[in-house]
Amino acid sequence: MDDFIAQLPKAELHLHIEGTLEPELAFALAEKNKITLPFKSVDEMRAAYNFSDLQSFLDLYYASISVVQTEEDFHDLTLAYLKKAASQNVRHTEIFFDPQSHTARNIPMGTVINGITAALREAQSELGVSSKLILSFLRHLSEAAAMETLQQALPFRDQFIGIGLDSSELGHPPSKFVNVFEEVRRQGFRVVCHAGEEGPPEYINEALDQLHAERIDHGVRCMEDAALVKRLAEEQIPLTVCPLSNVRLCVFKTMSDHTIKQMMDAGLLVTVNSDDPPYFGGYVNENYQAIQEAFGLTREDLVQLARNSFTAAFLSDEEKQKLI
Ligand code: HPA
Ligand code: ZN
Repeated sequence: MDDFIAQLPKAELHLHIEGTLEPELAFALAEKNKITLPFKSVDEMRAAYNFSDLQSFLDLYYASISVVQTEEDFHDLTLAYLKKAASQNVRHTEIFFDPQSHTARNIPMGTVINGITAALREAQSELGVSSKLILSFLRHLSEAAAMETLQQALPFRDQFIGIGLDSSELGHPPSKFVNVFEEVRRQGFRVVCHAGEEGPPEYINEALDQLHAERIDHGVRCMEDAALVKRLAEEQIPLTVCPLSNVRLCVFKTMSDHTIKQMMDAGLLVTVNSDDPPYFGGYVNENYQAIQEAFGLTREDLVQLARNSFTAAFLSDEEKQKLI
């Protein structure tokens, strides 16, 4: 089955570029940029990837990204991920980036976006992987800060296609960002939103009704609300599920407790993604493998999941034809 998964053409729709930083690259960049990481070695850093909830992960995720500073660093980080994606037969990826975690360190928006975009172009021409970029607001910060970030990003608007919402979910509902997402839509960007990872099903409804999100990132807690499940199934709203992430952040105790099979059986448009791969112990194929083993998924199930990933992508039918 692992070979079958490996050869399936896939799209990855839930991936934070900051969360692709492997400890080896972190140490190389720390040395180059003369920054001290709070770990003595790569092994010690990897051993710290032991989380009790979303916040315990985010604390390390934000601290580690301090080593990524120049346009070249953003390029190298992005290209490393895209090479790995290509090796797993990922044909298309829609990548999140968190500009506020960089502008807060006085790194200009252009440094971030131009570095990432240079790698996306290179991967398209040299690896045949297509990509789109999605800017993500940090929801633990204010709506005013998100609005300012949007304004800073507008000069680079041709380099990203959508906007999402990530970071600490509990206590920061989508409704906090209604005004900024109204402006996001007025500017013509696609809208996605992390919701129902740690937060309640109500946050998913808010993302749909108040932000007009077209895709829900995670969304696993929808299963607690039968009316919401019915709605998500009827409207075929894509859910970008990240199984290894959910287990490593204790959303589910073990992979056998994950509700992804129930979600598939309920007719939801489920996709499988890696979120922050080195932190959670696997890229996209390892996520497919983990659920295949836990639930005995058939080849047909796996093909359906891979097909869903293209259905849910922000690509035209013509672009999809070329990829598969
Ligand atoms: N949830 C919220 N914020 C994040 C995540 C996530 O899974 N990964 C990186 N930032
Ligand atoms: Zn995420």
